[in-house]
Amino acid sequence: MAYKTIIEPFRVHTVQAIDLPDSQAREAALVRAGYNLFGLHADEVIIDLLTDSGTGAMSTRQWSGMMLGDESYAGSRSFYRFEEVVRDLTGYGEIIPTHQGRAAEKILFNVAVSEGDLVPNNTHFDTTRANVEYQGATAFDCVCAEGHDPSLEAPFKGNVDIDKLRATIQAQGTESVPLVMVTVTNNSGGGQPVSMANLRAVRAVCDEFGIPMFLDACRFAENAWFIKMREDGYADRTPKEIAQEMFSIADGCTVSAKKDGLANIGGFLALNDREWALQARNLLILTEGFPTYGGLAGYDLEAIATGLEEVLDEKYLHYRIRSTEYLADTVHQAGIPTVRPAGGHAVYLDAAALLPHIPAHEYPAQALAVELYRAGGVRGVEIGTVMFGRAREGKPDQPAEMELVRLAIPRRMYTQSHIDYVGEVVIDVASRASDMRGYRIVEQALWLRHFTARLEPLD
Ligand SMILES: Cc1ncc(COP(=O)(O)O)c(C=O)c1O
Repeated sequence: MAYKTIIEPFRVHTVQAIDLPDSQAREAALVRAGYNLFGLHADEVIIDLLTDSGTGAMSTRQWSGMMLGDESYAGSRSFYRFEEVVRDLTGYGEIIPTHQGRAAEKILFNVAVSEGDLVPNNTHFDTTRANVEYQGATAFDCVCAEGHDPSLEAPFKGNVDIDKLRATIQAQGTESVPLVMVTVTNNSGGGQPVSMANLRAVRAVCDEFGIPMFLDACRFAENAWFIKMREDGYADRTPKEIAQEMFSIADGCTVSAKKDGLANIGGFLALNDREWALQARNLLILTEGFPTYGGLAGYDLEAIATGLEEVLDEKYLHYRIRSTEYLADTVHQAGIPTVRPAGGHAVYLDAAALLPHIPAHEYPAQALAVELYRAGGVRGVEIGTVMFGRAREGKPDQPAEMELVRLAIPRRMYTQSHIDYVGEVVIDVASRASDMRGYRIVEQALWLRHFTARLEPLD
């Protein structure tokens, strides 16, 4: 198009009111929730950027497709449609639906991972890490050096450090590395993409040692778009062709369909290994449901199948990546430290750089996230020491490598004026950074404590 404004490639069909709670209501909500934004009622939030997971708006095609949902317990028509779409996209032979991504992880790791094993990944997402550790194994991150530097501008900061991967497998011993995972895009590392060349290099290492390679492919379409935009030789390929090539490099994947499945719930495990698939299906029956529905309704399978087709539309991906970049550019141009370049699904504010006076054990990213809510009702999420710093056996917190606040943009949900408002709130809060104080945790769980912990502000 001749004009520089990139418009939302859709128009609003149904609206959902936002309550616009005032500052008194927000303060009361913070106290009640123990300064944990997961504890807020959604109606207490003005712009909800907690997650892009399951929060997007579905299309008229998805909603109408849901009316075709076949709710048969076994052999539902909706399953076969879902299976066909996933197989066409991924090329994998065994397609196992699950109620969301972590269920696919749980089942895969239960089958493949044993106590004492080590699973490398560029950066494990929190549920992925927890599910590996739950098996008594080590979740080992080996993202490339660029991925450790939030302010560095580089095209593929989600890439795996290939030398580190090889050295880690050698040190651990092949027999106790049951699989290598690569997260596309790398959510916990700033939503940064992984290049096709890097996926091939990981594959080569896996082949060298005879280890299967899996993708954590929740955001496969956004990753494909970055490859199209940034990697030589892909500009003329369609997002679908690029995604298919990404999947063809690996032996299987876990997917949360709540992201690039454009659905509100769902996920799947897809793989080629029939023996692992057999065991996975047996577990699925135990925990999720019969293999042709896996914890989902037939209409969910329809919504996911259509979502997986729609997400690869170039106009959608262009708008999607540009709208995230638009918010990132707004705050970056105001001098606020962020992970650069913009991630695919989220803007990551660098709380360690913005609040150098708050040490990791006083949770600077939590302090910033609370302040964004207090000031403007914007809910983001801490990705820092609250999320990753829990030490086992009564030991003190381990500082997380980065202290980030993630502002995740739900798909097809908010308009440009909502995003402009968020930019204003962030800039206002950042201008008062030196006044902010840290927090302490007063209640916490052993696993995934960030979901339920209660905190108190420090004086
Ligand atoms: C990279 C990644 N892996 C796995 C998951 C888990 O998916 P779910 O929330 O559907 O269980 C997420 C969710 O945000 C994710 O971002």
